[in-house]
Amino acid sequence: MPAAVVADLAQNPGVLYGCDYNPEQWDRATWLEDMALMREAGIGLVAINIFGWSSINPAPGVWNFDDLDAMMDLLHENGIRVNLGTGTASPPPWLSTAYPEMLPMVEDGTRRYPGGRQAFCPSSPIYRAHAAAVVEAVAERYGSHPALALWHVSNEIGCHNALCHCDASVDAFRTWLEARYTTIDALNAAWGTSFWSQRYSAWDQILTPRAALSLRNPGQMLDFARFSSDAGLALYRAEAEIIRRHSDAPVTTNFMATAHIRTQDYWTWAGEMDVVANDHYIDRRLPDPTGEVAFAADLTRGLAGGDPWLLMETSTSAMNWQPYNIAMAPGELVRTISTHLARGADGICFFQWRASAQGAEKYHSALLPHAGTDSALWRQSVELGGLLERLAPVTGTRVSASTALLFSWESWWALEGEGRPSEAVQYLDQVHAAHRALDAAGVTVDVVRPGSDLSGYDLVIAPALHLVRDSEADDIAAAAERGASVLITFASGTVNENDRVGLGGYPAAFRDLLGLRVEEFAPLHPDTTVRLSDGTIGSIWSERIDVVDADVLSTFVDGPAQGSAAITRRAHGAGAAWYLATTPDDASYLTLIQRLVVEAGVPQLLPDHGRLDLIRRTGQGRSILFAINHTAEDATVTAHGHDLVHQESVTGRVVVPAGGVRIIEESA
Ligand code: GAL
Repeated sequence: MPAAVVADLAQNPGVLYGCDYNPEQWDRATWLEDMALMREAGIGLVAINIFGWSSINPAPGVWNFDDLDAMMDLLHENGIRVNLGTGTASPPPWLSTAYPEMLPMVEDGTRRYPGGRQAFCPSSPIYRAHAAAVVEAVAERYGSHPALALWHVSNEIGCHNALCHCDASVDAFRTWLEARYTTIDALNAAWGTSFWSQRYSAWDQILTPRAALSLRNPGQMLDFARFSSDAGLALYRAEAEIIRRHSDAPVTTNFMATAHIRTQDYWTWAGEMDVVANDHYIDRRLPDPTGEVAFAADLTRGLAGGDPWLLMETSTSAMNWQPYNIAMAPGELVRTISTHLARGADGICFFQWRASAQGAEKYHSALLPHAGTDSALWRQSVELGGLLERLAPVTGTRVSASTALLFSWESWWALEGEGRPSEAVQYLDQVHAAHRALDAAGVTVDVVRPGSDLSGYDLVIAPALHLVRDSEADDIAAAAERGASVLITFASGTVNENDRVGLGGYPAAFRDLLGLRVEEFAPLHPDTTVRLSDGTIGSIWSERIDVVDADVLSTFVDGPAQGSAAITRRAHGAGAAWYLATTPDDASYLTLIQRLVVEAGVPQLLPDHGRLDLIRRTGQGRSILFAINHTAEDATVTAHGHDLVHQESVTGRVVVPAGGVRIIEESA
């Protein structure tokens, strides 16, 4: 099925506005109130039956669709379209009571019990068979219901249970490995099992990487990560296949392209979605929560292949699952939503409609808070509906970029394996630092998968791209050959797809391109920094480099790699390959990116004054400029057109107030 048009999924006239709704938690009088209030807010798409299993199938062989039938009809009567959950995200207690072997097992061999959610092993044949029966019943019953707009398979597949070590998972892992390697010798070679006497002589000796007394085999760990991602995808496929027998509506599931979940390689999932949907919540535990929103949104656009995508869940204010659940500051929600929209979202949905009065999420914010309609949060929900309606011109437009940032879940897994040079090297930190510097330089960036077509890019950045296949390295070299500027940062290109180190000096995959050999890593204690000759303050990492054929732009002045090159550049074909051997302070990273941007001729969207996040979406004969001011000071940008937020014409120097947003439909 071709990609679904996000904006068309709902009845909203503008940008899709939706939410999760859990009517199981409320009585019918409340349902009626909810319908009226949803209409008042302008909600166009409602996700229901996400956690519906124990309601529709409360006991073995017992089915009760009365409430779901009524809710489907009620939403339809109210002109609200349905994002219908298959209901399989959390199996009911009766199932795991009857079949305790379906419960997930963590790496120390202990089971996890029901009482929360997702208490199942993804590879459990028992879970899969029962889930299939639920999907069959739901898809058959509602597959052509007039309210149905979208299928929502399960929920955040693998959020809690991605890594299961039970016997069913072990069996499935062995099957997966046999399909990958065919022979046990090939597996032994790939995993390097000559090390520590780990050689296998039969498939049934292989386990998932259960807790061991010492460091575990990295090849086994990496394949287990791949297998676990595939096991989640298999759940999606199984449900989608059933749905498609009963329904023509588009099918998707909600991704978690976010900072704290790394268990799904969504590059391998994305192509199977009729529309790419992501869940994203501001993570206050990060040093730069706002920057992470921007990165995740760019990543989601990458997963969608540049097509408009759907923000399936976000919060109106505080979450309840972080240590300190900070309420949104005034204006923060509009800035956050605008960040997603600027980077390609055509729909914004919230978890959830009405704040739960009971249950583990009762302190999570919602569109309709516990305080009721006489509250700033509710008024914000209504205003948001008005804003999203005014943003209709945004829908269907696209973001274009001439800079690519390579992102890889496999590199994330491999880089953060056990027994590595430094735990301070965190993949996402390195990716975020590069993205932040690009953002500060006013550069719009596409986040792309290694191995994807780089021909449209003038600047290519590979931050900590640790695991690289030969063909992927060739693609990057070819981009430089053709004229692009390429920046590769430390820890990149170190291992191949089997987590095997390329010999002869790091980074084997890029040694020739960069014209250097890293002879030895010299990581830094997290409390220390090093100085570079160009004034950069480096942290986390340094290394001892033998420069073969490159210009040295900066050297380590002190620290364990004192005297070694730290930043290099080598002309390659019509372009150039740059190397960065430390994590620079933000200001120096920006300076470096500025040089690359100028060399590569990459366009920059910069304010006249102050710091602004500026992004342009174009297409359908329209051009929309997003100006998002995350700072406490007014900023200005030159623009001509109509500001859709404030509903006013703007021309010339336009003030974007402190903490404010302007979304300007530009005149031709
Ligand atoms: C998501 C989940 C929702 C809800 C939300 C709370 O992970 O899909 O069901 O739990 O988080 O932030």
